[in-house]
Amino acid sequence: MKVLVTGGAGYIGAHTVRALKRAGFETIVFDNLVYGHPEFVPSTELVVGDLADRALLTDLFSRHAFAGVIHFAAYAYVGESVQQPLKYYRNNVSSTINLLEAMTEAGVKNIIFSSTCATYGEPQTLPIPEDHPQNPINPYGSSKLMVERILQDTHQALGLNFIALRYFNAAGADPAGGIGEDHNPETHLIPLVLDVALGRRPHITVFGTDYDTLDGTCIRDYIHVNDLAQAHVLGLQYLLDGGASQCLNLGNGNGFSVQEVIAAAQKVTGRPISVQLGERRPGDPAILVGSSQRVRDLLHWTPQYAQLEVVLQTAWDWHQQRFG
Ligand SMILES: NC(=O)c1ccc[n+]([C@@H]2O[C@H](COP(=O)([O-])OP(=O)(O)OC[C@H]3O[C@@H](n4cnc5c(N)ncnc54)[C@H](O)[C@@H]3O)[C@@H](O)[C@H]2O)c1
Repeated sequence: MKVLVTGGAGYIGAHTVRALKRAGFETIVFDNLVYGHPEFVPSTELVVGDLADRALLTDLFSRHAFAGVIHFAAYAYVGESVQQPLKYYRNNVSSTINLLEAMTEAGVKNIIFSSTCATYGEPQTLPIPEDHPQNPINPYGSSKLMVERILQDTHQALGLNFIALRYFNAAGADPAGGIGEDHNPETHLIPLVLDVALGRRPHITVFGTDYDTLDGTCIRDYIHVNDLAQAHVLGLQYLLDGGASQCLNLGNGNGFSVQEVIAAAQKVTGRPISVQLGERRPGDPAILVGSSQRVRDLLHWTPQYAQLEVVLQTAWDWHQQRFG
């Protein structure tokens, strides 16, 4: 069975292409390479194009009979989304509408969508359940919530089946090597910390040390990218088996503070990591940890890389290979 992977040359997309192949699916990657890396998807057909190009999508869907689509392609810089909201709504929302139109025209019924914990905004209960109110506090989160709503409406009206996976913080790399986290610019904590360990940055800045947490720094839920990828495969199989459309959290269900991540990275790398203490950033909740009970029960998903040290070790192996 053939699967279209939009944004498949990006970090999570490339890992999911591997997971799909391991599960016996054929893959076609569609990516404009604005942030993607063609070398991440060497053994799959890569269509270089933009989801804004409706004619290209129509042509693509006429040439292939896809069993489903896994839709990663989006912009994902929260700060940039605050400065340039229209860029985010155009790419994350309008381009997704193009994709959904092309899918419905071609009769393709199944989509897995990359949503985010940023659709929740400031948590009112922890761990965050799926029925927690969704009040995003930046255009990036709003754009993803809009797509969730569009998927629900398209499901009702046109019978499109969807799973929206609300990821927490993706981290790590496939131990098999060759792919990993390489965002440019990089904003994620773990690669930034590993940059310091490698000597590519002088220090890591900790934004806020007076939060109401054990050590005063923010707590986040880190999920290994291979575990994330596997949930997409299980989600697609679930839809192909006639499963009901819905939104699911995708996290480890436990949180680590910024200080804990830095301490664990020092242990894994065996190198000192220089820290600079900074002010809080506006819009950073103290704790973001999701309940992953529903995805475990529904998709029989179990994380294989639940320990922070293991996540960091795979990230470090990749980081040295790529940047060392
Ligand atoms: N990385 C995380 O921790 C995280 C957390 C929550 C949600 N997400 C979501 O997961 C998805 C993948 O994230 P990632 O970290 O792999 O990002 P990434 O930037 O590595 O991958 C996104 C890919 O989409 C491509 N792309 C963007 N717009 C496109 C367009 N209009 N047409 C074609 N290709 C386009 C980019 O070139 C890139 O290869 C995104 O939708 C992101 O919002 C990521």
